[in-house]
Amino acid sequence: MQTAMGDASYHPREECRICGGRRLSVIVDLGLMPLANRFISPDDRAPEPRIPLVVMRCMDCANAQLSVVVDPALMFTTYAYRSGVSSTFIRHCDRFAREAEEIAGLPRGAPVLDIGGNDGTLLSSFAGRGYRTHLVDPAGNLAPTSRAAGHEVLSAFWGHEAAEKSARQWPCMELVTATNVVAHVDDLDEFFSAVARVLAPTGHFVLEVPYLADLVEKSEFDTIYHEHLSYFLLQPLLRLGERHGLRARYVRRIPIHGGGLRLYFGRGTYASDAVRAMLDFERDAGLHEEHPYRRFAREIDWIRGELRTALTRFREEGKRVAAYGASAKGAILLNAAQADSTLVQYIVDDTPEKQGHLAPGTRIPISPRSRLDTEPPDYLLILAWNFVDEIVEKTSAFSTRGGRYIIPVPALRIL
Ligand code: TYD
Ligand code: ZN
Repeated sequence: MQTAMGDASYHPREECRICGGRRLSVIVDLGLMPLANRFISPDDRAPEPRIPLVVMRCMDCANAQLSVVVDPALMFTTYAYRSGVSSTFIRHCDRFAREAEEIAGLPRGAPVLDIGGNDGTLLSSFAGRGYRTHLVDPAGNLAPTSRAAGHEVLSAFWGHEAAEKSARQWPCMELVTATNVVAHVDDLDEFFSAVARVLAPTGHFVLEVPYLADLVEKSEFDTIYHEHLSYFLLQPLLRLGERHGLRARYVRRIPIHGGGLRLYFGRGTYASDAVRAMLDFERDAGLHEEHPYRRFAREIDWIRGELRTALTRFREEGKRVAAYGASAKGAILLNAAQADSTLVQYIVDDTPEKQGHLAPGTRIPISPRSRLDTEPPDYLLILAWNFVDEIVEKTSAFSTRGGRYIIPVPALRIL
């Protein structure tokens, strides 16, 4: 079934994407939500698409996934998100490149492919270390930036077709990276098989995905949006890799974007203490059972309610509230708290493409950071809470004036 709503179409997903199981149970239901990265022009009066946002858990393999799949062309072909805006992220990329070089034992000048590499920020860390860099990403609007940075670029979704093109034009890859993209993919078998197609026999495939354990432990429910089709644990990922001749060599938890896991696959057979320890952790934390998810659902209700109450009180007291970071998670949080521009007057964001637009669902205007000086708020809601230190640093004038920060996750705090 293909359902059209406004310009969005989506279809239900009734089998587990990892094991094919059909015993799926609801863990989070956020109701109808807009697309979190679909920024609105101020003169656009058309109703926005609203699509169910529901997370299901597979009772057979413990993978979690959305109940629907939105047509990817609606979300990824012009992408407002730019990795390079955050300096925290650039440092993360440099450390990643150093680590991958060591673990994969990359030969000097080896070819590296980054799938879903956005504006080439991660690849630039590899280029800086002397590797030959290749990028495949569907966001055509970002390709000129990546080419200007010296990367070979193919504008496409990753799959069999892109892998054939890569194999024809480019050498076999010693390293394939996919950071924050695997969770966007509906057909994981095609994705992995296409990676196996371009990977050299001695090559490594490294992926970074948000980790379901972090999502649940830290109540990061606003990282649930339509782009994120899957919420992974290690165990189901190992099963997926195995089907494509890829075995786990190393894994670790990473702090970026609220907490993820970084998993290295190779074609050999490995005995990794790190992999064993994480599997034990998942079992001991009960992540294959119901109870952590029930607690998670209660936390979500609490945060939504508390935020709405606080914003309503500030409005009654005549205080001005602005927000920082027109992130996708911010869109979900504001919609979940039913905020609009009477509660949060504006959002500042340093991304030029987002400025002058309205935030999805809430239609709160997005402005450059300078608005914090011309219309100083009393409270600043940090919507990109994963970059809280960087944002506090950039807004020191606001806090010097006595402004206070609202941090929504993992529990609502006013500092
Ligand atoms: P981010 O948390 O990276 O992602 P998502 O959209 O997946 O939730 O988004 C952070 C947003 O905050 C992004 O629009 C860029 C913006 N931002 C700034 O404008 N200035 C900054 O200093 C930082 C750290 C982020
Ligand atoms: Zn399953």
